Amino acid sequence: MQSTHISHLLLLPLLLLLLLYLGESRGDVNRLLLDQLNQVGLVNLLEQATRPSVPQDLSNYDFIVIGAGAAGSSLAARLSENPQWRVALIEAGGVENIAHITPVLAGYLQQTSSNWGYKSVPQKLSCHGMINNECALPRGKVLGGTSSINYMIYNRGNRRDFDGWAAAGNPGWSYEEVLPYFLRSERAQLQGLENSPYHNHSGPLSVEYVRFRSQLVDAFVEASVESGLPRTDYNGESQFGVSYVQATTLNGRRHSAYSAYIKPVRDLRSNLQVFTFARVTRILIDEATKSAYGVEFHYKNRPYTFKARKEVILSAGAFNSPQILMLSGIGPEDNLKAIGVPLIQALPVGKRMFDHMCHFGPTFVTNTTGQTTFTSRISPADVISYLLAGNPSTVLSSIGGVEALAFLKTLRSDLPKDWPDIELIMVTGSLASDEGTALKLGANFKDEIYDRMYRELAQAQQDHFTLLVMQFHPKSVGRLWLRDRNPLSWPMIDPKYFVAEEDVEYLLDGIKASLRIIEMPAMQRIGARLLKRQVPGCEGHEFASDDYWRCSIRTLSYTLHHQVATCRMGPESDPTTVVNHQLKVHGMRRLRVVDTSVIPVPPTAHTNAAAFMIGEKAADLIRSEWS
Ligand SMILES: Cc1cc2nc3c(=O)[nH]c(=O)nc-3n(C[C@H](O)[C@H](O)[C@H](O)COP(=O)(O)OP(=O)(O)OC[C@H]3O[C@@H](n4cnc5c(N)ncnc54)[C@H](O)[C@@H]3O)c2cc1C
Ligand SMILES: *[C@@H]1O[C@H](CO)[C@@H](O)[C@H](O)[C@H]1NC(C)=O
Ligand SMILES: *[C@@H]1O[C@H](CO)[C@@H](O)[C@H](O)[C@H]1NC(C)=O
Repeated sequence: MQSTHISHLLLLPLLLLLLLYLGESRGDVNRLLLDQLNQVGLVNLLEQATRPSVPQDLSNYDFIVIGAGAAGSSLAARLSENPQWRVALIEAGGVENIAHITPVLAGYLQQTSSNWGYKSVPQKLSCHGMINNECALPRGKVLGGTSSINYMIYNRGNRRDFDGWAAAGNPGWSYEEVLPYFLRSERAQLQGLENSPYHNHSGPLSVEYVRFRSQLVDAFVEASVESGLPRTDYNGESQFGVSYVQATTLNGRRHSAYSAYIKPVRDLRSNLQVFTFARVTRILIDEATKSAYGVEFHYKNRPYTFKARKEVILSAGAFNSPQILMLSGIGPEDNLKAIGVPLIQALPVGKRMFDHMCHFGPTFVTNTTGQTTFTSRISPADVISYLLAGNPSTVLSSIGGVEALAFLKTLRSDLPKDWPDIELIMVTGSLASDEGTALKLGANFKDEIYDRMYRELAQAQQDHFTLLVMQFHPKSVGRLWLRDRNPLSWPMIDPKYFVAEEDVEYLLDGIKASLRIIEMPAMQRIGARLLKRQVPGCEGHEFASDDYWRCSIRTLSYTLHHQVATCRMGPESDPTTVVNHQLKVHGMRRLRVVDTSVIPVPPTAHTNAAAFMIGEKAADLIRSEWS
């Protein structure tokens, strides 16, 4: 505890420097600096000096958890509550530093080694605005996993999502049955919801409204209400409506899986051992009994083996869990054969992948000034107030500019009326917010998109904001496979965004819904109007016509990184599934997958809250089996 405290103190001057650099918008310098913080940063040096976590080859543990992301961290923390159980948590990345903890810097983290940095294979029908038509697919590689580099939106899903999981042959996963696990993880400090039965106040993970609010978001929420949307707690009784965003932050600081679950206990529990910069390459399996009995991993370029007395648990996320299964001989027969991995268990690993695709926009300009989030315009006074006085309400606690969410229904949908199909994500900025030094690069946008649409906004005094439109229930199905058996290679990922035409039409409806909100008096009072900049490649269509927007959707295609179903949960009789309702890999023993890759269909939500729920529930499943 003590050492982390000191290390943060030492980092304050560094962050100050960093933000002064941002002030001069020297993008490359920012990136270098952030990466320094990441790789050889003081935190990591101190970490290694004060908590030597050098692995001992051939060590024995009861449970080995692979990956310290949202699900893996919560699971390892819960399992190690039992002092009789020795738990190893193995993470490929290092520790978080003050850049992770400062919410306004969210977009920059994708430019650091805390991001695995995957890209899709070139897409035919989407991501036309990205270099080589490759959509960027970031994932966290750090203690805390993706919860340490994400945008911190806290959103659980619709009760019908979970009831659907249960109806598909997954007993124990209905809304009534998973709600207690969402609650168990949550420590809400939400003004006005103190007495809500949908929120808990004593779990590990802090949830709060973002304390910083621009005038733009007030206008958006008011206009949404004027357009007929109710105000709602989208994690409560009904999702439908508009709300200021709820975030996984604590007093305006990011509260990742690591800070919430592991950091508070790791020095107190000698039975929990956390290994950083340790990359799992394979699960050891006894072929005769199909039992997992350990893992192989690389640490400082040397191979190591750990043995598991009870179980190996894969929590490496929606890309890496399927990868590790396949490297270990569990996967589709044809793929394993092609790469020369002997087959142990044929399962449709990676055969299906869903994601939530967005349209990056529309972007609107207003007549106001000083309300848009520009990292380059953060004042030294705000930095000092946030860092030194701990003030949680400066712009530094803005979660990358995301300020409100609206859950809508389109006329197209035949789903029940309490089951939203579109989300509007209100962001007080755009690619211009960091002057092209982070978001543009993070998403792999071509320079011309930035130059022709956004560059001018980065110079302007005038404010602007963006309503990202996201579709909840896409029909397009992607997949993931391995190109070779090298454990250090990237998995191949083809999300196949927008192969189903219908998905584009939903986003078009969502764009129209956003334009209706802009017509409302609260928006007109601030002079809100569409940014009149043609999307490069869509000049052939009349500006703002339906076909123009369809072109824009296939160009400014922006994933919100909610990949699911690569290790789909379901009964063994369902040939599309990999794990059963207890998250055990079909046909295998002592091996579970516990992360977002088990989610069978895209939820009506961003996926981080569900990852914590899955970790909490898995802990109970495992406890009831071994106690
Ligand atoms: C940029 C971005 C923004 C997002 N914003 C939001 C948001 O605002 N709200 C929201 O709800 N969701 C958001 N998401 C999605 C959400 O954060 C993730 O779905 C969720 O955190 C995933 O949790 P997980 O436990 O399944 O996996 P992860 O958190 O990805 O954890 C996997 C862990 O395993 C480690 N690992 C992988 N391979 C190995 C290996 N071979 N050896 C050792 N360790 C390994 C990884 O380094 C990582 O730490 C965002 C995602 C991204 C990428
Ligand atoms: C709140 O969280 C704590 C800690 O996880 C848990 O013990 C408690 O049961 C939870 N309360 C509710 C109402 O779920
Ligand atoms: C906003 O500015 C535009 C352009 O200067 C002007 O035409 C419009 O009337 C203004 N609207 C409001 C509500 O102030």
